[in-house]
Amino acid sequence: MDTWEFNKIAGAVLSALLLIFGTATFIDIQMSHKPEKAGYTLPVDVSATQEAGQAAAPAGLDFEEIKGLLHNASAENGQAAFKRCTTCHTPDKGGRNGTGPNLWGIVGRPKASHEGFNYSAALKEKGGEWTYEELAKFINNPKAAVPGNKMAFAGIKDKAELADLLAYLRTLNDNPPPLPE
Ligand code: HEC
Repeated sequence: MDTWEFNKIAGAVLSALLLIFGTATFIDIQMSHKPEKAGYTLPVDVSATQEAGQAAAPAGLDFEEIKGLLHNASAENGQAAFKRCTTCHTPDKGGRNGTGPNLWGIVGRPKASHEGFNYSAALKEKGGEWTYEELAKFINNPKAAVPGNKMAFAGIKDKAELADLLAYLRTLNDNPPPLPE
C-alpha cells in the first residue's frame, strides 16, 4: 500500500467517524431542545393564578398567627430575608430611593410619604400609617393588599419569615413602635 492509498483509507475512516460523532452530537442538540414534557408551555400569568388561589382562601393572611410569631421573631433572620428587598429598597437612615422608596422608619410611617419618591396613586390613596398588621398583609401579598400599587414583588408567604422580616423592619427606627399585643 503506498502513502496515497493509506491517506485515502485514513481519510475515509476519519470521514466515517466525523459522520458518526457529528450525527450523535446533532441528535444530542435536537434532544436537548425538546421540551421535557410533551406539548408547549404556554405563558401563564403566575400572579393571576396566585391571586385566584388567594381569593379562594377566605380571609387572606391571618395576622393573629403572625402576631404570635412576632414576639419570638429574629431580626437577624429578618435582615437576611430583607436581601430580597434590597434590589429595590435601602434600609438605612437617609438612604436613597431606588426602584422603591427608602424604608427607614417604615413601621409607623404614614403610607406613601417618603420624600422624593413617586408613589402610585393606589398607595397614596390608601392613607393611614403602616402598622405591623398592614405591613404584614402588604409584604405577604402586595397585589391583594393594595390593588394597583406598583411594587413588583410576589410577596413573602412563609409566616415565620414574614414575622422575622417585620422584626427586622422594626429595628429601622429611632423609636420602634411597640409590638402589637
Ligand atoms: C422589584 C422592586 C421591589 C421589591 C423587590 C420590593 N419592593 Fe417594596 N416597593 C417597591 C415599589 C416600586 C414601591 C412603591 C409602590 C407604589 O408606589 O405603589 C414599594 C413600596 C413598599 C412599601 C411601602 C413604602 C411606603 O413608603 O409607603 C413597603 C413597606 C415595601 N415596599 C416593603 C418591601 C419589602 C419588605 C420587600 C421585600 C420583602 C419589598 N418591598 C420588595 C418595589 C419593590
